Amino acid sequence: MADSIRVAPSLLAADFAALGEAVRTVETAGADLLHLDVMDGRFVPNLTFGPIVVEAVRKTTRLPLDVHLMIEEPIRHVDAFADAGADWLTIHVEACEDPAATLDAIRRRGVKPGISLRPGTSFSDLEPFLGAVGLVLVMTVEPGFGGQAYRPEQEAKLTRARQLRRAADLDYVIEVDGGIGRETAPAAVAAGAEILVTGSALFGAEDIPAFIRDLRAVSPPPV
Ligand code: DX5
Ligand code: ZN
Repeated sequence: MADSIRVAPSLLAADFAALGEAVRTVETAGADLLHLDVMDGRFVPNLTFGPIVVEAVRKTTRLPLDVHLMIEEPIRHVDAFADAGADWLTIHVEACEDPAATLDAIRRRGVKPGISLRPGTSFSDLEPFLGAVGLVLVMTVEPGFGGQAYRPEQEAKLTRARQLRRAADLDYVIEVDGGIGRETAPAAVAAGAEILVTGSALFGAEDIPAFIRDLRAVSPPPV
């Protein structure tokens, strides 16, 4: 369970022609981990990058790499992303024929498994897998693109994740992704988010260290 809020800059909003510089900027600015969005043009319409880029980023930073797999049947690529140096591999429940086997494959590679869901997917679809994950990622936008508006109705899933963790004595961190910035972070944190993914708001901020400080300073609800 997180003691304080952690900030995970999403590199999707960085300048890909100067990725190393972007990584250094956010690391120096106080980021807690780096969020890398992998998209396959099938699970989501957009295409981004694969293990080669994860491996290149791995060489530039000591920050944990939080890899968000928006790809069909991610089990096919677990080894490649583990070899590339991912610390976390988060899969989508909708993208797997067998989510339990996929999470197990991730864990067996010594990588921390996470699970996520689209805004239109019911949280109950995740429930069978909550005992097998170290991270639950609640999407507050439709996966695929940065820069979309935060969807507050998804906050109920953050709260449900927190309630179930306590009720069933489970052990995962709760992460939120999509439209997070200074205006939306307090509500997400109040609902249960402990790791804040932030892309366009962070890379568009005038003062990135101050932005990260402000997000980390949002008060979590009493346990
Ligand atoms: C969207 C990605 C997000 C995205 C967030 O599919 O999962 O991580 O980069 O970007 P912002 O913070 O701009 O909504
Ligand atoms: Zn993401």
